[in-house]
Amino acid sequence: MIRRLFRQPTPTPVSTPEERAGWAKPVYGKNPARCDAVCYQAVPGETEWYPPVMAGAETFSFACASAETLQDALEVMQKLSPDDYTRYLTKFYTEGLNRFGDGWIYADIVTVLLTMSRVLQPRRYLEIGVRRGRSVCTVASQTPSVDIVLFDMWMKGYAGMENPGPDFVREELKKVGHEGKAEFIDGNSHITVKKYFADNPDAFFDLITVDGDHTDPGAAEDLADVLPHLSVGGAIVFDDVCHPVHPGLAQVWRTQVADDPRFSAWTFADAGYGVGFAIRKH
Ligand SMILES: C[S@@+](CC[C@H](N)C(=O)[O-])C[C@H]1O[C@@H](n2cnc3c(N)ncnc32)[C@H](O)[C@@H]1O
Repeated sequence: MIRRLFRQPTPTPVSTPEERAGWAKPVYGKNPARCDAVCYQAVPGETEWYPPVMAGAETFSFACASAETLQDALEVMQKLSPDDYTRYLTKFYTEGLNRFGDGWIYADIVTVLLTMSRVLQPRRYLEIGVRRGRSVCTVASQTPSVDIVLFDMWMKGYAGMENPGPDFVREELKKVGHEGKAEFIDGNSHITVKKYFADNPDAFFDLITVDGDHTDPGAAEDLADVLPHLSVGGAIVFDDVCHPVHPGLAQVWRTQVADDPRFSAWTFADAGYGVGFAIRKH
């Protein structure tokens, strides 16, 4: 039997403009931390004319969508315990590379995280929506020393597959050589993330992924909660911006991030379920 997940009968509802107006909004504070990998700093005594970020999302979009990165993504996935979805993805990547070779322009959460963790070498990574650890393991594979904070409520049977929880993800992290700290925070992100930042108001992260609640207001709220804690020069990654079952997420991404001049954003919605990432400029 072929299960077509993208044809589930009940897509998440798309918010109306009135509902959008009620979405949670990020509240940015003063003096954010800086991720130096993409920043330029004038020497003391010289004028800093530009905002610090010298390479925006466009610079890294080529690597995110390249055949070379896909090969590396295949290698990372092969280290992890497979499930129905990653078996499918492995075949999808391999077939695309065979058919289109270097000319294949394809990106997803894995190719983006692989590229951006390589570029940024994040000291701290936050993720909402972990499931079996594919995305966090991609980050750890490129930055073994990264300290990570992971939020999930481990919904049973998520997308029709097992969702085994933190012990399983800890084992997966070992397979990619993770050496940093890993903090798992279980429960509904709309409670746990707020509590985490109430307890750690000065915490900043160089790389953040939001891939948990896929309703429009829920995803908007997750973004609003984490964005003020993204370092300048750091990157936010948002999955599924062209997922047919979650048609409103594209607008969530635009409203909370891509249309905000504070960010340099790149959105891939040509194939697969799509992905967006953005670098915080100031
Ligand atoms: C799409 S999966 C994450 C996939 C993972 N990022 C990857 O790339 O392999 C979404 C995960 O978010 C979790 N989730 C959904 N809604 C949530 C919420 N409100 N709070 C916390 N976790 C949630 C689910 O339990 C599920 O494990």
